[in-house]
Amino acid sequence: MNALRVGIVGATGAVGETLLRVLEERRVPLSNLAAFGSRHRDAAVRYGGTMLDVRSTTGEALADRDVVFFAGGESLGEAFFTDLAARGIYCIDNNPTFRLRDDMPLIVPEINAETLEARHRILPVGNCTAIILALALAPIRDVAGLRDVVVSTYQAASGAGRAGLEELDKGQRALALGEREDPAVVFPAPLARNVVPQVGAIDADGWSGEERKVAAETQKMLGLPELAISATCVRVPVRTAHAESVVVRTERPTTVAKLQAAFEGAPGLRFHREGIVTPRDVEGSDDVHVARLRADGSEGTRFALWCTGDQLRKGAATNAVQILELLIARGYLG
Ligand SMILES: NC(=O)c1ccc[n+]([C@@H]2O[C@H](COP(=O)([O-])OP(=O)(O)OC[C@H]3O[C@@H](n4cnc5c(N)ncnc54)[C@H](OP(=O)(O)O)[C@@H]3O)[C@@H](O)[C@H]2O)c1
Repeated sequence: MNALRVGIVGATGAVGETLLRVLEERRVPLSNLAAFGSRHRDAAVRYGGTMLDVRSTTGEALADRDVVFFAGGESLGEAFFTDLAARGIYCIDNNPTFRLRDDMPLIVPEINAETLEARHRILPVGNCTAIILALALAPIRDVAGLRDVVVSTYQAASGAGRAGLEELDKGQRALALGEREDPAVVFPAPLARNVVPQVGAIDADGWSGEERKVAAETQKMLGLPELAISATCVRVPVRTAHAESVVVRTERPTTVAKLQAAFEGAPGLRFHREGIVTPRDVEGSDDVHVARLRADGSEGTRFALWCTGDQLRKGAATNAVQILELLIARGYLG
C-alpha cells in the first residue's frame, strides 16, 4: 500500500485534536497529514513533534487527499461531501449528516465491520452515546437477543465540543470565586453544579435530538431496526467520558454468569465484575467499560448495567481511525 495522504477537517476542535493524537498513537502509516478548519492559521495544531498549519477548508485544498476525516464543517453542506466522494476520496465523517442513510454503513468495527463495502466512500461515524451503548449491548444481543432497552445518560461537557468545555470551566470558576455566572449559551441551563436533562433540541413529541439519535443509530449499529430503545439524555458537569445506566429485556432467558462471560470475551469492552467504574477512570481509554451487571427479577430476561466510555476517543476519534484501519486491512486504499 502507498503511504497515505490524510486530511483532518476540524483539527482545532475537541474531536479533531483527539484524532491527531490517536493517529499518532496507533502509528497509522501516513505519508502526509494536513489540517483544516474554518480559516487559515499558522502552526496551530500539533502532530507528533511537528506543528502543522491549519488551512482553510475548500474542495480544492482537499483534492489531493486519499482520506479526509471530518470533525466539524457540517455547514459545508452535503454536496461538498458527495463531490469529494465522487473523486474517490474517502470521507470518514463524525458529523451526523449521513449516519442514517440506507446506502451508507454506520461502522463500529467490533460490531458490524461486515457492513463496509468496496463502493463506500462516505463513512459516517456514529453518535458517541450510541457507539458506547451499542458496544455494551452487542454481547447481550448475541447471548439472548434484545427485546427492549431503557437508557439514561450522563453526558460530559466536551460532548458539546470546545465551547461546551469552556462554558463548564467558566461557570465552575465563577461559582468557586463567588462571582456572577455568565448565562448559559452552549447548554440549555448552567451546567456547573447542576445536571441538565436536555441534549439537543426537543421535538414536537417531547424527545430531544440526542435521544432520537441514540435510539435510531443504536438500532442501525446493532442491525436491529425494530429494537425498542427509550433514551433520556442528560448533561452532567464532567469534562470527558459519557456514562449510561441501562436496563434491558432479552428475547430469551439467560443468566448473569453467561452475560459476564460474554462481556469478558467481547472486543472493545472492559468488564468489571466487582466495584464501580467512573468517567474519570476511563478518560483516555479506547474501551467501553461495563460494570454493575445485575439481574432484575428472577425470570432471567431483565438485566441492569452501567457503562462508560471516553466519547472523544471510542465515541468519535478512535472509531474513525479504526474505520481507516479497516479500509487499509481490506486493501481498499491502493
Ligand atoms: N465532542 C464529542 O464528544 C463528539 C463526539 C462524536 C461526534 N462529534 C461530532 O464531531 C464534530 C466535531 O465536534 P467537536 O466536539 O470536536 O466540535 P468543536 O470542538 O466545536 O470543533 C469544531 C471544529 O470544526 C471546525 N469547523 C467549524 N466550521 C467549519 C467549516 N465551515 N469548515 C471547516 N471546519 C470547520 C472548527 O474549526 P475552527 O477552529 O476553524 O472554527 C473546529 O476545528 C461535530 O459534528 C460533532 O457532532 C463530537
